[in-house]
Amino acid sequence: MKPLLAPSILSADFGNLESEIRKVEEAGAHLLHVDVMDGRFVPNITVGIPVVESIRGKTRLPLDVHLMIVEPEKYIPRFIEAGANWISFHFEAAVHHHRIVSQIKELGAKAGIAINPSTPISSLEEIIPYLDFVLVMSVNPGFGGQKFIESSIRKIEKLRELSLELNPKLIIEVDGGIKVENVEKILKAGARIVVAGSAVFKGDPERNVKDFLKKLNQF
Ligand code: DX5
Ligand code: ZN
Repeated sequence: MKPLLAPSILSADFGNLESEIRKVEEAGAHLLHVDVMDGRFVPNITVGIPVVESIRGKTRLPLDVHLMIVEPEKYIPRFIEAGANWISFHFEAAVHHHRIVSQIKELGAKAGIAINPSTPISSLEEIIPYLDFVLVMSVNPGFGGQKFIESSIRKIEKLRELSLELNPKLIIEVDGGIKVENVEKILKAGARIVVAGSAVFKGDPERNVKDFLKKLNQF
């Protein structure tokens, strides 16, 4: 598949969210990444179900909801009802991964598992056949604007190797510290959805999206 760009609204101006979203949509972004944090799984609090619901009414872009929350299974049905199209929950925040993945799929959304930088790819071996995507965190989740952890490249490559064997349709999404300057090596390693927050919304979002798309379109 062709690579997709998912701007993360975490770095957008929340007071002008509608116009921020419109800018990236018009510039050609493919998905909108929504970071949900609960102050328990990660040391930060962001937005929840009502915000997803109101964004849903403002854009045609698929909503890629990244749940950084404990007990994700309690809230997933409401996020999907609010308009989430892609849902990822953290491997480290759940026990019954297979059950939660089935729950997401039955409700009609794409199911993904997100993994922290210190969680090995091998932990996913049994669940990979059931997933639509894996979200590889290339920073420690919780904040925008952090530095890309270089060892993530090897992890993406490992995941690609494993997916060729276990689930060739698996989509690899990468999130954290992605800039126009380092996106090529991330794509080369096997990523097909790239999330970018600060690198899209700081400065001129339309320009930034276009700069990213130039790089993505080479793959
Ligand atoms: C971090 C979030 C990311 C964040 C990325 O916990 O999951 O989606 O918005 O921000 P940047 O691209 O600035 O690293
Ligand atoms: Zn995210």
